[in-house]
Amino acid sequence: MAQDPAARPQLDTHAALQAHVGTLRAAGRHIGAVRWQTQDAWLKLSMTQPPAWRYQLLGGAARLLGQAAMRPLRPQGGSIGLRVEARRLRALRACGLRAPEVLDEAEHWLLLSDLGPTTLESLIRRADLPARFEWWQRGADYIVQAHQSGQYLSQTFARNFVCSERGEPGAIDFEDDALTAMPLLDAQIRDWLPYSFSTAFYFADCLPELSERLAATLMQESAAVRAGVRQAYARTAWLSALRYLPQAMQRTDVIKTRCFGEFARLAARSD
Ligand SMILES: Nc1ncnc2c1ncn2[C@@H]1O[C@H](COP(=O)(O)OP(=O)(O)O)[C@@H](O)[C@H]1O
Ligand SMILES: [Mg+2]
Repeated sequence: MAQDPAARPQLDTHAALQAHVGTLRAAGRHIGAVRWQTQDAWLKLSMTQPPAWRYQLLGGAARLLGQAAMRPLRPQGGSIGLRVEARRLRALRACGLRAPEVLDEAEHWLLLSDLGPTTLESLIRRADLPARFEWWQRGADYIVQAHQSGQYLSQTFARNFVCSERGEPGAIDFEDDALTAMPLLDAQIRDWLPYSFSTAFYFADCLPELSERLAATLMQESAAVRAGVRQAYARTAWLSALRYLPQAMQRTDVIKTRCFGEFARLAARSD
Protein backbone atom coordinates (compact mmCIF):
# COMPACT_ATOMS: atom_id res chain seq x y z
CA MET A 1 0.00 0.00 0.00
CA ALA A 2 1.02 3.59 -0.35
CA GLN A 3 3.42 4.55 2.37
CA ASP A 4 4.94 7.85 3.41
CA PRO A 5 8.41 7.75 1.75
CA ALA A 6 9.89 9.30 4.88
CA ALA A 7 8.70 6.27 6.83
CA ARG A 8 10.95 3.94 4.82
CA PRO A 9 14.16 3.26 6.72
CA GLN A 10 17.30 3.87 4.64
CA LEU A 11 19.27 0.60 4.44
CA ASP A 12 22.34 0.42 2.25
CA THR A 13 24.09 -2.83 3.08
CA HIS A 14 23.36 -6.51 3.48
CA ALA A 15 24.15 -6.20 7.19
CA ALA A 16 21.72 -3.29 7.61
CA LEU A 17 19.02 -5.33 5.91
CA GLN A 18 19.77 -8.29 8.15
CA ALA A 19 19.40 -6.07 11.22
CA HIS A 20 16.11 -4.66 9.97
CA VAL A 21 14.76 -8.22 9.64
CA GLY A 22 15.02 -8.48 13.43
CA THR A 23 13.11 -5.20 13.87
CA LEU A 24 10.30 -6.37 11.58
CA ARG A 25 10.06 -9.76 13.32
CA ALA A 26 9.93 -8.06 16.73
CA ALA A 27 7.02 -5.96 15.42
CA GLY A 28 5.27 -9.14 14.24
CA ARG A 29 5.55 -8.16 10.55
CA HIS A 30 6.61 -10.28 7.59
CA ILE A 31 7.04 -7.51 5.04
CA GLY A 32 8.26 -3.92 5.26
CA ALA A 33 8.80 -1.00 2.88
CA VAL A 34 12.41 0.21 2.92
CA ARG A 35 14.69 2.58 1.03
CA TRP A 36 17.61 0.61 -0.36
CA GLN A 37 20.50 2.69 -1.65
CA THR A 38 18.79 4.93 -4.23
CA GLN A 39 15.53 3.06 -4.68
CA ASP A 40 12.38 1.99 -2.85
CA ALA A 41 12.20 -1.69 -2.01
CA TRP A 42 10.38 -4.29 0.07
CA LEU A 43 11.96 -6.59 2.59
CA LYS A 44 9.98 -9.83 2.65
CA LEU A 45 10.60 -12.36 5.42
CA SER A 46 9.97 -16.10 5.53
CA MET A 47 6.77 -17.19 7.21
CA THR A 48 5.66 -20.46 8.72
CA GLN A 49 3.70 -22.67 6.38
CA PRO A 50 -0.08 -22.56 6.87
CA PRO A 51 -1.65 -25.79 8.24
CA ALA A 52 -2.01 -28.66 5.74
CA TRP A 53 -5.56 -29.62 6.71
CA ARG A 54 -7.00 -26.44 5.29
CA TYR A 55 -5.61 -27.26 1.88
CA GLN A 56 -6.50 -30.95 2.07
CA LEU A 57 -10.09 -29.96 2.70
CA LEU A 58 -10.20 -27.56 -0.25
CA GLY A 59 -8.27 -30.06 -2.37
CA GLY A 60 -10.94 -32.67 -1.62
CA ALA A 61 -13.62 -30.25 -2.76
CA ALA A 62 -11.73 -29.59 -6.02
CA ARG A 63 -11.45 -33.36 -6.63
CA LEU A 64 -15.18 -33.77 -6.06
CA LEU A 65 -15.78 -31.10 -8.68
CA GLY A 66 -13.36 -32.93 -11.01
CA GLN A 67 -11.31 -29.78 -11.41
CA ALA A 68 -7.55 -30.10 -11.13
CA ALA A 69 -7.27 -26.39 -11.95
CA MET A 70 -9.26 -25.50 -8.86
CA ARG A 71 -6.93 -27.29 -6.50
CA PRO A 72 -5.72 -24.84 -3.85
CA LEU A 73 -1.99 -24.55 -3.39
CA ARG A 74 -0.48 -24.59 0.04
CA PRO A 75 2.26 -21.94 0.13
CA GLN A 76 5.62 -23.48 0.90
CA GLY A 77 6.44 -21.19 3.79
CA GLY A 78 9.89 -20.87 5.40
CA SER A 79 13.07 -20.48 3.46
CA ILE A 80 11.80 -22.78 0.69
CA GLY A 81 8.85 -20.46 0.03
CA LEU A 82 11.22 -17.54 -0.48
CA ARG A 83 13.42 -19.55 -2.86
CA VAL A 84 10.29 -20.43 -4.87
CA GLU A 85 9.33 -16.74 -4.92
CA ALA A 86 12.79 -15.63 -6.12
CA ARG A 87 12.79 -18.31 -8.84
CA ARG A 88 9.30 -17.43 -10.08
CA LEU A 89 10.05 -13.68 -10.12
CA ARG A 90 13.21 -14.24 -12.16
CA ALA A 91 11.35 -16.47 -14.63
CA LEU A 92 8.62 -13.86 -15.15
CA ARG A 93 11.11 -11.03 -15.57
CA ALA A 94 13.12 -13.12 -18.04
CA CYS A 95 9.94 -13.24 -20.16
CA GLY A 96 9.62 -9.45 -20.05
CA LEU A 97 6.78 -9.40 -17.53
CA ARG A 98 6.60 -6.68 -14.90
CA ALA A 99 7.51 -8.25 -11.54
CA PRO A 100 9.85 -7.24 -8.71
CA GLU A 101 13.59 -7.60 -9.20
CA VAL A 102 15.34 -9.60 -6.46
CA LEU A 103 17.87 -7.01 -5.26
CA ASP A 104 19.40 -9.06 -2.46
CA GLU A 105 18.58 -12.23 -0.55
CA ALA A 106 19.48 -14.36 2.44
CA GLU A 107 18.08 -17.60 3.81
CA HIS A 108 15.12 -15.94 5.53
CA TRP A 109 14.47 -12.80 3.51
CA LEU A 110 14.27 -11.29 0.04
CA LEU A 111 14.79 -7.68 -0.94
CA LEU A 112 12.42 -6.87 -3.80
CA SER A 113 12.26 -3.77 -5.97
CA ASP A 114 9.18 -1.59 -5.54
CA LEU A 115 6.52 -1.90 -8.26
CA GLY A 116 4.54 1.17 -7.28
CA PRO A 117 2.26 2.72 -4.70
CA THR A 118 -1.14 1.09 -5.27
CA THR A 119 -2.59 -2.37 -5.61
CA LEU A 120 -4.88 -3.09 -8.54
CA GLU A 121 -7.60 -3.98 -6.05
CA SER A 122 -7.64 -0.50 -4.52
CA LEU A 123 -7.57 1.10 -7.97
CA ILE A 124 -10.56 -0.99 -9.05
CA ARG A 125 -12.37 -0.26 -5.79
CA ARG A 126 -11.88 3.50 -5.97
CA ALA A 127 -12.47 4.13 -9.69
CA ASP A 128 -15.74 5.18 -11.29
CA LEU A 129 -17.27 2.67 -13.65
CA PRO A 130 -15.50 3.29 -16.98
CA ALA A 131 -12.11 3.50 -15.25
CA ARG A 132 -12.94 0.46 -13.14
CA PHE A 133 -13.34 -1.62 -16.30
CA GLU A 134 -10.05 -0.19 -17.59
CA TRP A 135 -8.19 -1.30 -14.48
CA TRP A 136 -9.80 -4.73 -14.59
CA GLN A 137 -8.69 -5.04 -18.21
CA ARG A 138 -5.09 -4.20 -17.34
CA GLY A 139 -4.95 -7.08 -14.85
CA ALA A 140 -6.62 -9.42 -17.34
CA ASP A 141 -4.19 -8.38 -20.09
CA TYR A 142 -1.29 -9.12 -17.75
CA ILE A 143 -2.57 -12.66 -17.21
CA VAL A 144 -2.91 -13.14 -20.99
CA GLN A 145 0.58 -11.77 -21.57
CA ALA A 146 2.02 -14.16 -18.95
CA HIS A 147 0.31 -17.13 -20.61
CA GLN A 148 1.37 -16.09 -24.10
CA SER A 149 4.97 -16.11 -22.79
CA GLY A 150 4.52 -19.72 -21.64
CA GLN A 151 4.24 -18.57 -18.01
CA TYR A 152 1.65 -18.92 -15.26
CA LEU A 153 1.07 -16.92 -12.09
CA SER A 154 -0.74 -18.39 -9.10
CA GLN A 155 -2.14 -16.08 -6.43
CA THR A 156 -3.85 -13.88 -9.02
CA PHE A 157 -5.99 -11.92 -6.58
CA ALA A 158 -6.31 -8.25 -7.55
CA ARG A 159 -4.43 -7.35 -4.34
CA ASN A 160 -1.38 -9.18 -5.72
CA PHE A 161 -0.99 -6.84 -8.68
CA VAL A 162 0.70 -3.53 -7.95
CA CYS A 163 0.51 -0.60 -10.39
CA SER A 164 3.19 1.95 -11.16
CA GLU A 165 2.48 5.68 -11.18
CA ARG A 166 1.86 5.24 -14.92
CA GLY A 167 -0.71 2.54 -14.23
CA GLU A 168 1.28 -0.48 -15.42
CA PRO A 169 0.43 -3.56 -13.35
CA GLY A 170 3.05 -5.98 -12.07
CA ALA A 171 2.57 -9.24 -10.18
CA ILE A 172 3.78 -10.01 -6.64
CA ASP A 173 3.49 -12.81 -4.07
CA PHE A 174 4.86 -16.09 -5.41
CA GLU A 175 5.45 -18.35 -2.44
CA ASP A 176 4.00 -21.30 -4.28
CA ASP A 177 4.69 -22.79 -7.68
CA ALA A 178 1.56 -24.17 -9.33
CA LEU A 179 3.63 -26.48 -11.58
CA THR A 180 4.60 -28.57 -8.56
CA ALA A 181 0.91 -29.51 -8.24
CA MET A 182 -0.54 -29.47 -11.78
CA PRO A 183 0.30 -29.28 -15.50
CA LEU A 184 0.89 -25.90 -17.18
CA LEU A 185 -2.56 -25.93 -18.83
CA ASP A 186 -4.34 -26.30 -15.46
CA ALA A 187 -2.11 -23.65 -13.89
CA GLN A 188 -3.07 -21.21 -16.64
CA ILE A 189 -6.77 -22.05 -16.37
CA ARG A 190 -6.55 -21.61 -12.62
CA ASP A 191 -5.09 -18.09 -12.92
CA TRP A 192 -8.51 -16.81 -14.04
CA LEU A 193 -10.29 -17.99 -10.91
CA PRO A 194 -8.67 -15.87 -8.15
CA TYR A 195 -8.74 -12.92 -10.53
CA SER A 196 -12.49 -13.19 -11.12
CA PHE A 197 -13.17 -14.10 -7.51
CA SER A 198 -11.39 -10.98 -6.25
CA THR A 199 -12.92 -8.57 -8.77
CA ALA A 200 -16.52 -9.69 -9.57
CA PHE A 201 -17.75 -8.06 -6.34
CA TYR A 202 -16.77 -4.59 -7.63
CA PHE A 203 -18.90 -5.11 -10.75
CA ALA A 204 -21.98 -6.43 -8.96
CA ASP A 205 -24.25 -4.12 -10.99
CA CYS A 206 -22.70 -4.85 -14.36
CA LEU A 207 -21.65 -8.50 -14.35
CA PRO A 208 -23.01 -9.16 -17.88
CA GLU A 209 -20.64 -6.50 -19.26
CA LEU A 210 -17.76 -7.92 -17.23
CA SER A 211 -18.42 -11.39 -18.60
CA GLU A 212 -18.45 -9.98 -22.16
CA ARG A 213 -15.08 -8.39 -21.50
CA LEU A 214 -13.77 -11.65 -20.15
CA ALA A 215 -15.02 -13.53 -23.22
CA ALA A 216 -13.28 -11.02 -25.52
CA THR A 217 -10.06 -11.28 -23.48
CA LEU A 218 -10.13 -15.08 -23.45
CA MET A 219 -10.06 -15.03 -27.27
CA GLN A 220 -6.36 -14.28 -26.88
CA GLU A 221 -5.84 -17.47 -24.85
CA SER A 222 -5.35 -20.93 -26.37
CA ALA A 223 -8.52 -22.88 -27.16
CA ALA A 224 -7.60 -25.36 -24.39
CA VAL A 225 -7.30 -22.65 -21.73
CA ARG A 226 -10.52 -21.05 -22.94
CA ALA A 227 -12.42 -24.34 -22.73
CA GLY A 228 -10.95 -25.12 -19.31
CA VAL A 229 -11.87 -21.71 -17.91
CA ARG A 230 -15.42 -22.09 -19.18
CA GLN A 231 -15.70 -25.50 -17.57
CA ALA A 232 -14.35 -24.17 -14.27
CA TYR A 233 -16.97 -21.41 -14.32
CA ALA A 234 -19.73 -23.88 -15.19
CA ARG A 235 -18.78 -25.90 -12.11
CA THR A 236 -18.78 -22.91 -9.77
CA ALA A 237 -21.90 -21.16 -11.11
CA TRP A 238 -24.02 -22.77 -8.38
CA LEU A 239 -22.41 -20.33 -5.91
CA SER A 240 -24.79 -17.69 -7.28
CA ALA A 241 -27.49 -19.52 -5.26
CA LEU A 242 -26.01 -17.89 -2.16
CA ARG A 243 -28.23 -14.93 -3.03
CA TYR A 244 -31.12 -16.93 -1.56
CA LEU A 245 -29.55 -16.89 1.89
CA PRO A 246 -31.41 -14.68 4.34
CA GLN A 247 -30.37 -11.03 4.49
CA ALA A 248 -28.81 -11.47 7.93
CA MET A 249 -26.31 -13.96 6.48
CA GLN A 250 -25.21 -11.71 3.59
CA ARG A 251 -21.85 -10.77 5.04
CA THR A 252 -19.13 -9.38 2.77
CA ASP A 253 -17.48 -12.75 2.17
CA VAL A 254 -20.84 -14.29 1.25
CA ILE A 255 -21.63 -11.39 -1.09
CA LYS A 256 -18.19 -11.69 -2.72
CA THR A 257 -18.66 -15.42 -3.28
CA ARG A 258 -22.20 -14.92 -4.59
CA CYS A 259 -21.01 -12.24 -7.07
CA PHE A 260 -18.32 -14.61 -8.27
CA GLY A 261 -20.97 -17.33 -8.70
CA GLU A 262 -23.18 -14.96 -10.68
CA PHE A 263 -20.23 -13.95 -12.84
CA ALA A 264 -19.26 -17.61 -13.34
CA ARG A 265 -22.83 -18.43 -14.42
CA LEU A 266 -22.71 -15.72 -17.09
CA ALA A 267 -19.12 -16.41 -18.15
CA ALA A 268 -19.78 -20.15 -18.56
CA ARG A 269 -22.41 -19.34 -21.19
CA SER A 270 -20.85 -16.53 -23.17
CA ASP A 271 -19.15 -17.21 -26.49
N1 LIG B 1 7.53 -5.26 -4.81
C1 LIG B 1 6.49 -4.59 -4.29
N2 LIG B 1 6.15 -3.38 -4.78
C2 LIG B 1 5.12 -2.67 -4.26
N3 LIG B 1 4.37 -3.11 -3.22
C3 LIG B 1 4.66 -4.31 -2.68
C4 LIG B 1 5.72 -5.11 -3.17
N4 LIG B 1 5.79 -6.23 -2.44
C5 LIG B 1 4.82 -6.14 -1.53
N5 LIG B 1 4.13 -4.98 -1.64
C6 LIG B 1 3.02 -4.53 -0.78
O1 LIG B 1 2.96 -5.38 0.38
C7 LIG B 1 1.74 -6.12 0.39
C8 LIG B 1 2.00 -7.57 0.84
O2 LIG B 1 2.94 -8.20 -0.01
P1 LIG B 1 2.78 -9.72 -0.54
O3 LIG B 1 4.03 -10.11 -1.25
O4 LIG B 1 1.50 -9.82 -1.32
O5 LIG B 1 2.70 -10.56 0.81
P2 LIG B 1 1.51 -11.32 1.55
O6 LIG B 1 0.28 -11.29 0.69
O7 LIG B 1 2.07 -12.69 1.72
O8 LIG B 1 1.32 -10.56 2.81
C9 LIG B 1 1.19 -6.01 -1.01
O9 LIG B 1 -0.20 -6.09 -1.04
C10 LIG B 1 1.69 -4.65 -1.49
O10 LIG B 1 0.85 -3.62 -1.00
MG1 LIG C 1 -0.33 -10.82 -1.18
